[in-house]
Amino acid sequence: MTMRLDYLSIFPAYFDVLDISLLGKAAVNGLVEVHAHDLRDWTHDRHRTVDDTPCGGGAGMVMKPDPWGEAFDEIIGTEPDSSVHVIFPSPSGAPFTQSAAQELSSAVRIVFCCGRYEGIDHRVIDYARSMWTVHEVSLGDYVLNGGEVAALAITEAVVRLVPGFMGNPESLAEESFSAGQDGLLEYPLFTRPVSWRGLDVPEVLMSGHHGRIAKWRRDESVRLTCERRPDLTDSDFGVPH
Ligand code: ADE
Repeated sequence: MTMRLDYLSIFPAYFDVLDISLLGKAAVNGLVEVHAHDLRDWTHDRHRTVDDTPCGGGAGMVMKPDPWGEAFDEIIGTEPDSSVHVIFPSPSGAPFTQSAAQELSSAVRIVFCCGRYEGIDHRVIDYARSMWTVHEVSLGDYVLNGGEVAALAITEAVVRLVPGFMGNPESLAEESFSAGQDGLLEYPLFTRPVSWRGLDVPEVLMSGHHGRIAKWRRDESVRLTCERRPDLTDSDFGVPH
Protein backbone atom coordinates (compact mmCIF):
# COMPACT_ATOMS: atom_id res chain seq x y z
CA MET A 1 0.00 0.00 0.00
CA THR A 2 1.23 3.53 -0.79
CA MET A 3 2.45 5.56 2.17
CA ARG A 4 0.92 9.04 2.12
CA LEU A 5 2.98 11.83 3.70
CA ASP A 6 1.53 15.27 4.46
CA TYR A 7 3.47 18.29 5.70
CA LEU A 8 1.78 21.25 7.38
CA SER A 9 4.05 24.27 7.57
CA ILE A 10 4.21 27.99 6.95
CA PHE A 11 7.23 27.22 4.71
CA PRO A 12 5.99 24.38 2.48
CA ALA A 13 8.82 25.05 0.01
CA TYR A 14 11.12 23.19 2.40
CA PHE A 15 9.54 20.02 1.11
CA ASP A 16 10.30 20.71 -2.56
CA VAL A 17 13.56 18.82 -2.07
CA LEU A 18 11.58 15.62 -1.61
CA ASP A 19 10.98 15.63 -5.36
CA ILE A 20 14.67 15.58 -6.23
CA SER A 21 16.03 13.35 -3.47
CA LEU A 22 15.73 9.59 -3.28
CA LEU A 23 12.11 10.16 -2.40
CA GLY A 24 11.42 11.33 -5.93
CA LYS A 25 12.34 7.87 -7.02
CA ALA A 26 10.14 6.18 -4.43
CA ALA A 27 7.25 8.47 -5.26
CA VAL A 28 7.59 7.56 -8.94
CA ASN A 29 7.59 3.91 -7.97
CA GLY A 30 4.29 4.48 -6.18
CA LEU A 31 5.70 3.69 -2.74
CA VAL A 32 5.12 7.12 -1.24
CA GLU A 33 2.95 10.11 -2.06
CA VAL A 34 3.95 13.55 -0.80
CA HIS A 35 1.68 16.55 -0.10
CA ALA A 36 3.04 19.81 1.36
CA HIS A 37 0.51 22.36 2.62
CA ASP A 38 0.78 26.04 3.58
CA LEU A 39 -0.79 26.46 7.02
CA ARG A 40 -1.67 30.05 6.07
CA ASP A 41 -4.21 28.65 3.59
CA TRP A 42 -6.39 28.04 6.66
CA THR A 43 -6.28 31.62 7.96
CA HIS A 44 -9.02 34.14 7.22
CA ASP A 45 -7.54 37.55 8.01
CA ARG A 46 -5.78 39.93 5.65
CA HIS A 47 -2.38 39.25 7.22
CA ARG A 48 -2.86 35.47 7.22
CA THR A 49 -1.94 35.40 10.91
CA VAL A 50 -0.81 32.08 12.40
CA ASP A 51 0.64 33.27 15.72
CA ASP A 52 -0.28 35.22 18.83
CA THR A 53 1.29 36.20 22.15
CA PRO A 54 1.65 33.47 24.82
CA CYS A 55 -1.06 33.22 27.48
CA GLY A 56 0.61 33.89 30.81
CA GLY A 57 3.16 36.18 29.20
CA GLY A 58 6.75 35.59 28.15
CA ALA A 59 8.91 36.09 25.11
CA GLY A 60 8.11 35.09 21.55
CA MET A 61 4.93 33.98 19.86
CA VAL A 62 2.79 30.84 19.91
CA MET A 63 1.05 29.27 16.92
CA LYS A 64 -2.72 29.73 17.12
CA PRO A 65 -4.85 26.58 17.20
CA ASP A 66 -7.51 27.67 14.67
CA PRO A 67 -5.56 27.22 11.38
CA TRP A 68 -4.27 23.83 12.59
CA GLY A 69 -7.78 22.62 13.40
CA GLU A 70 -9.16 23.63 10.02
CA ALA A 71 -6.17 22.13 8.22
CA PHE A 72 -6.65 18.83 10.10
CA ASP A 73 -10.36 18.76 9.18
CA GLU A 74 -9.52 19.18 5.52
CA ILE A 75 -6.37 17.10 5.21
CA ILE A 76 -7.08 14.23 7.63
CA GLY A 77 -10.80 14.48 8.33
CA THR A 78 -12.97 14.74 11.40
CA GLU A 79 -13.15 11.05 12.35
CA PRO A 80 -10.82 9.35 14.82
CA ASP A 81 -8.43 6.93 13.07
CA SER A 82 -5.52 5.36 14.93
CA SER A 83 -3.87 4.32 11.66
CA VAL A 84 -3.07 8.00 10.99
CA HIS A 85 0.27 8.94 12.57
CA VAL A 86 0.64 12.64 13.37
CA ILE A 87 4.14 13.82 14.15
CA PHE A 88 5.02 17.01 15.98
CA PRO A 89 8.78 17.60 15.77
CA SER A 90 9.85 19.45 18.91
CA PRO A 91 12.96 19.75 21.08
CA SER A 92 10.67 18.66 23.96
CA GLY A 93 9.68 15.45 22.18
CA ALA A 94 10.87 11.92 22.87
CA PRO A 95 14.18 11.14 21.11
CA PHE A 96 13.64 9.89 17.56
CA THR A 97 15.32 6.50 17.13
CA GLN A 98 15.89 3.85 14.50
CA SER A 99 13.20 1.71 16.15
CA ALA A 100 10.73 4.60 15.88
CA ALA A 101 11.66 4.90 12.20
CA GLN A 102 11.13 1.16 11.79
CA GLU A 103 7.70 1.35 13.41
CA LEU A 104 6.63 4.27 11.21
CA SER A 105 7.87 2.58 8.03
CA SER A 106 4.74 0.41 7.96
CA ALA A 107 2.34 3.36 8.41
CA VAL A 108 0.05 4.20 5.51
CA ARG A 109 -0.52 7.80 6.58
CA ILE A 110 1.88 10.20 8.31
CA VAL A 111 1.15 13.89 8.86
CA PHE A 112 4.02 16.15 9.92
CA CYS A 113 3.02 19.28 11.85
CA CYS A 114 5.87 21.73 11.66
CA GLY A 115 5.78 24.44 14.29
CA ARG A 116 7.68 27.71 14.22
CA TYR A 117 8.15 30.45 16.79
CA GLU A 118 8.13 29.20 20.40
CA GLY A 119 5.78 26.36 19.55
CA ILE A 120 2.17 25.36 18.88
CA ASP A 121 -0.78 25.91 21.25
CA HIS A 122 -0.79 22.67 23.24
CA ARG A 123 -4.48 22.03 22.59
CA VAL A 124 -3.59 21.25 18.98
CA ILE A 125 -1.48 18.30 20.18
CA ASP A 126 -4.12 17.21 22.73
CA TYR A 127 -6.81 17.35 20.04
CA ALA A 128 -4.69 15.34 17.59
CA ARG A 129 -4.03 12.79 20.35
CA SER A 130 -7.76 12.37 20.89
CA MET A 131 -8.16 11.55 17.20
CA TRP A 132 -5.03 9.92 15.80
CA THR A 133 -1.72 8.34 16.85
CA VAL A 134 0.47 11.23 17.91
CA HIS A 135 4.27 11.32 18.26
CA GLU A 136 6.09 14.32 19.70
CA VAL A 137 9.67 13.68 18.65
CA SER A 138 13.03 15.39 19.03
CA LEU A 139 15.98 14.94 16.71
CA GLY A 140 18.45 15.71 19.47
CA ASP A 141 19.41 18.09 22.23
CA TYR A 142 19.64 21.23 20.19
CA VAL A 143 17.10 23.77 19.00
CA LEU A 144 16.17 24.26 15.35
CA ASN A 145 14.17 27.24 14.11
CA GLY A 146 11.22 25.07 13.23
CA GLY A 147 10.07 21.53 12.65
CA GLU A 148 10.66 21.46 8.89
CA VAL A 149 14.24 20.20 8.82
CA ALA A 150 13.38 17.66 11.53
CA ALA A 151 10.41 16.46 9.46
CA LEU A 152 12.71 16.00 6.45
CA ALA A 153 15.21 14.01 8.51
CA ILE A 154 12.46 11.81 9.97
CA THR A 155 11.03 11.31 6.48
CA GLU A 156 14.35 10.11 5.14
CA ALA A 157 14.90 7.74 8.07
CA VAL A 158 11.41 6.27 7.62
CA VAL A 159 11.03 6.07 3.86
CA ARG A 160 14.30 4.24 3.25
CA LEU A 161 12.89 1.45 5.44
CA VAL A 162 9.69 1.10 3.40
CA PRO A 163 9.83 -2.36 1.79
CA GLY A 164 10.83 -1.95 -1.84
CA PHE A 165 12.51 1.43 -1.40
CA MET A 166 16.11 0.26 -1.08
CA GLY A 167 17.66 -1.35 -4.12
CA ASN A 168 19.71 -3.62 -1.90
CA PRO A 169 17.84 -4.37 1.36
CA GLU A 170 20.93 -6.14 2.74
CA SER A 171 22.63 -2.79 3.23
CA LEU A 172 19.88 -1.97 5.76
CA ALA A 173 20.81 -4.95 7.93
CA GLU A 174 24.40 -4.01 8.72
CA GLU A 175 24.32 -0.30 9.41
CA SER A 176 24.55 1.58 12.70
CA PHE A 177 21.77 0.93 15.26
CA SER A 178 20.25 -1.98 13.37
CA ALA A 179 19.73 -5.42 14.91
CA GLY A 180 22.35 -6.89 12.57
CA GLN A 181 25.02 -4.86 14.36
CA ASP A 182 23.88 -5.66 17.93
CA GLY A 183 23.15 -1.98 18.45
CA LEU A 184 26.81 -1.06 17.88
CA LEU A 185 28.12 1.72 15.66
CA GLU A 186 29.23 0.62 12.22
CA TYR A 187 32.86 -0.29 11.63
CA PRO A 188 34.99 1.89 9.28
CA LEU A 189 34.68 1.17 5.55
CA PHE A 190 37.34 1.14 2.82
CA THR A 191 37.48 0.53 -0.92
CA ARG A 192 40.23 0.59 -3.57
CA PRO A 193 42.88 1.84 -4.16
CA VAL A 194 44.66 -0.11 -1.41
CA SER A 195 47.13 2.76 -0.99
CA TRP A 196 45.92 6.38 -1.20
CA ARG A 197 47.92 9.49 -0.30
CA GLY A 198 50.18 7.40 1.91
CA LEU A 199 47.23 5.82 3.74
CA ASP A 200 46.66 2.06 3.43
CA VAL A 201 43.55 -0.07 3.75
CA PRO A 202 43.95 -2.22 6.91
CA GLU A 203 45.78 -5.36 5.81
CA VAL A 204 43.27 -7.76 7.34
CA LEU A 205 40.56 -6.51 4.96
CA MET A 206 42.68 -7.58 1.98
CA SER A 207 43.53 -10.97 3.53
CA GLY A 208 40.48 -12.80 2.21
CA HIS A 209 40.21 -14.42 5.65
CA HIS A 210 36.51 -14.08 6.49
CA GLY A 211 36.88 -15.01 10.16
CA ARG A 212 39.63 -12.47 10.80
CA ILE A 213 37.74 -9.80 8.86
CA ALA A 214 34.59 -10.40 10.91
CA LYS A 215 36.58 -10.20 14.15
CA TRP A 216 38.33 -6.97 13.09
CA ARG A 217 35.00 -5.36 12.19
CA ARG A 218 33.40 -6.45 15.43
CA ASP A 219 36.36 -5.16 17.48
CA GLU A 220 36.26 -1.81 15.65
CA SER A 221 32.51 -1.52 16.23
CA VAL A 222 32.93 -2.20 19.95
CA ARG A 223 35.87 0.23 20.23
CA LEU A 224 34.03 3.04 18.43
CA THR A 225 30.85 2.50 20.41
CA CYS A 226 32.66 2.58 23.75
CA GLU A 227 34.58 5.70 22.71
CA ARG A 228 31.80 7.75 21.13
CA ARG A 229 28.56 6.37 22.49
CA PRO A 230 29.06 4.89 25.95
CA ASP A 231 25.29 5.41 26.38
CA LEU A 232 24.75 2.52 23.94
CA THR A 233 26.84 0.21 26.11
CA ASP A 234 26.53 -1.29 29.56
CA SER A 235 27.41 1.76 31.66
CA ASP A 236 29.24 -0.18 34.41
CA PHE A 237 31.69 -2.03 32.24
CA GLY A 238 31.71 -0.17 28.94
CA VAL A 239 30.70 -3.41 27.22
CA PRO A 240 27.94 -3.53 24.59
CA HIS A 241 24.60 -5.00 25.67
N1 ADE B 1 12.19 21.71 16.39
C1 ADE B 1 13.08 22.56 16.94
N2 ADE B 1 14.12 21.90 17.43
C2 ADE B 1 13.89 20.58 17.21
C3 ADE B 1 14.60 19.39 17.49
N3 ADE B 1 15.76 19.38 18.13
N4 ADE B 1 14.05 18.22 17.13
C4 ADE B 1 12.86 18.19 16.51
N5 ADE B 1 12.16 19.27 16.21
C5 ADE B 1 12.66 20.47 16.55
